[in-house]
Amino acid sequence: MQMLKSLVNAVKALFSKLFHTESSTMLNIILFGPPGSGKGTQATKLADQYQLLHISTGDLFRYEMGNDTTLGKEAKAYIAKGELVPDSVTVGMLKNKVNANPDVAGYIFDGFPRTIAQAEALDEFLKEKDETVSALLSLQVEDEEIITRLLERGKTSGRSDDSDVSIIKNRIEVYKSETSPVFDYYSQFDKSMKIEGMGTIEEVFSNLTSAIDKLR
Ligand code: C5P
Ligand code: MG
Repeated sequence: MQMLKSLVNAVKALFSKLFHTESSTMLNIILFGPPGSGKGTQATKLADQYQLLHISTGDLFRYEMGNDTTLGKEAKAYIAKGELVPDSVTVGMLKNKVNANPDVAGYIFDGFPRTIAQAEALDEFLKEKDETVSALLSLQVEDEEIITRLLERGKTSGRSDDSDVSIIKNRIEVYKSETSPVFDYYSQFDKSMKIEGMGTIEEVFSNLTSAIDKLR
C-alpha cells in the first residue's frame, strides 16, 4: 500500500514537472524607486486598474505605530531616523498581509523589498504558493525633485520623516546603498524595468501601464 502511494506520488511529480511549466497566475508587481518617486500615488491607481491589492509596507508600519502595537513600537525608532526596520520584522508583517488576502488577482508591493534579503524572502514566499514576481518597475526621479516633493508632502502628511531635510537625505542614502541593489537582483531574472517618473501623475501612470500591458 505504502509502495503504491509512493509510486503514485512519483508519477504525479513527473507529470507536474513535464506539463506544469509556468504556474504563476497572478500579476505581482514591485513598484520600485526612491522615497518621493510617486510609488504610493501610482500604486493606488494601478491597483484600481488591474484589480490588485496594494501593499505599502510604510503604510502598514504607520498603522501599527498609530495603534501603538508591539510591532509599531519596534519600528518607530528606525522610521524616525529614516533607517530600515530589520528584515525579519518587515518580512513577517508583509507575509501576514499577503496571507490574509489570498483571493486577489495579484499584489502591488510598494516600498518592499527594500533589501536583497527581503527580495530573497519574497521570492521564496511566493514560490511556496506557486507564484512569482512578474516585474519590478523602477521610477526614475532626480534627487532634487525628490527632496522638493517630500518637503511638500511633509506639510500635510504629518510624517516627521518628510519634514526634516537631514532625515530625507538619510532616506535617499539608505535607498542608494541598501535598496537600489534590489534592482540588479531582479535584473538577473530579466524582471527589472526603468520607468520615467518625472512627469505628471497621468504621464507616469501611462508609462507604467504600457510596461505592464506588455507583460501579459
Ligand atoms: O515606504 P515609506 O517611505 O512609506 O517608508 C517609510 C519608512 O518605513 C522608511 O523610511 C523606513 O524607515 C521604513 N520602512 C522599512 N522597510 C520597508 C518599508 C519601510 O524600514 N520595507
Ligand atoms: Mg509611500
